[in-house]
Amino acid sequence: MKKARIIGTGSYLPEKVLTNFDLEKMVDTTNDWISARTGIEERRIAAESEMTSDLAVIAAQRAMDMAGVTADEIDLVIVGTITGDFPWPSTACLVQDKLGAKNAAAWDVSAACSGFVYALTSATQYLQAGSAKRALVIGAEILSRIIDWEDRNTCILFGDGAGAVILEAQDGDNGILSTHLHSDGSYWELLYQPGFGAKHPATVSGIEERLPFLHMAGNEVYKMAVRSLYDVAVEALEANNMTTDDVKLLFPHQANRRILDAVKKRLKLRDDQMYINVDMCGNTSGASIPIALDEANRKGLLNEGDILVFDAFGGGFTWGACLLRW
Ligand code: UT7
Repeated sequence: MKKARIIGTGSYLPEKVLTNFDLEKMVDTTNDWISARTGIEERRIAAESEMTSDLAVIAAQRAMDMAGVTADEIDLVIVGTITGDFPWPSTACLVQDKLGAKNAAAWDVSAACSGFVYALTSATQYLQAGSAKRALVIGAEILSRIIDWEDRNTCILFGDGAGAVILEAQDGDNGILSTHLHSDGSYWELLYQPGFGAKHPATVSGIEERLPFLHMAGNEVYKMAVRSLYDVAVEALEANNMTTDDVKLLFPHQANRRILDAVKKRLKLRDDQMYINVDMCGNTSGASIPIALDEANRKGLLNEGDILVFDAFGGGFTWGACLLRW
C-alpha cells in the first residue's frame, strides 16, 4: 500500500499583533494573568480585508512552492476550519478556485481544533486507497471574528492563521503510518458557537444574547483536553509498537501552555520533544498544528526518517492523532 507523505509545508500569520498589554486595555485582565494561566504572550489578528480563504491560499501556495507542485496536480483540497468565509459554500471550494486547482475535489472538515488532524486523516485514506495522488490539506481560522471581545474568559486565548501541507502518495517507508480519530458529541455544549444555524436562526435578539460568539466552559475543556491528548498519543505509539523514546517531535494542538506541559509530563517527553509556539500565536484552532509544523520544518528541525506525532483535541468533542515517518 502507498503511504501518504508530506512533501511541502506552508503557513501564514496575519501581520497585526495583539499583545497581552493590548488586551489589558480592552477587558479586565493583566499580562501576568494571561501569561501565567495560558503561556500566551501575543496572537495575530486578520485584517478586515482578509478572509479565511485568503489566509489558506497563502499558506497553500507556500506549501506548493516547497513541494514543487502546481495547482493542476492537486486532486483534493481539504480545509479544516470552523470559521470559513461563509457557512457555505465550503472554504475549500473558494481555495480551489483562488489557486486554480481545476482537477481537485474540495470540501471542509468541521472538527474544531482537531480539524487539521481530521482533514489529514481523510486525505490519507484517499491516497492510500489509490483514489488520489496529491492532496492539499489546510487548517485555517479567523477566530477573531467569532470571539466575544467583551468576554475575558475567552478573548485572551485565540488567534488567527493558516497552515498547509501537500501530501503525495509514495512507495517506501516514509509517510503517515497511522491515524486515530475519536469523538464524543455528548460534550458539545462545553465549547461551541450557538448561532446562527438551524437551532438558532439569525435574529436581532440573538445578537443581543451573543449567540454568534464562541462559548466555552474553560475548566471542563481543560481537563478533557489533557486526558484526550495523552490517551490518543499513547494509542498512536502503541499501534506502531513505539514508545516516546522513538519520537523526534510531537506537535500538539496549541491550546494553552499549561495543558501542553501537563501532557508532556504525563507522556514523559523531554522539552525538546514537544513543539510549542502558543506563546506567539495563541490558540489558532484547526490551524495550530500545521503552523507549528511549518515553523519547525523551516527552522530545519525535521530530518528524513524522524518520527513525528500530531496530537489534537477540540470542540465536539473531537480528538485524534497521526503518527508519521518524515
Ligand atoms: O482548543 C481547546 C480550546 N479551549 C481551551 O484550550 C481552554 C481550556 N481551558 C483553559 O485554558 C483555562 O480553563 C482558562 C485559561 C480558560 C482559564 O484558566 P483557569 O485557570 O481554568 O481559570 P478559571 O476559569 O478557573 O478562573 C480563575 C479566575 C476567575 O476568577 P474568580 O472566580 O476566581 O474570582 C476568573 O473570573 O480567573 C478569572 N479570569 C480572569 N482574570 C483575569 C478569567 N479570565 C480572566 C482573565 N484575566 N482573562
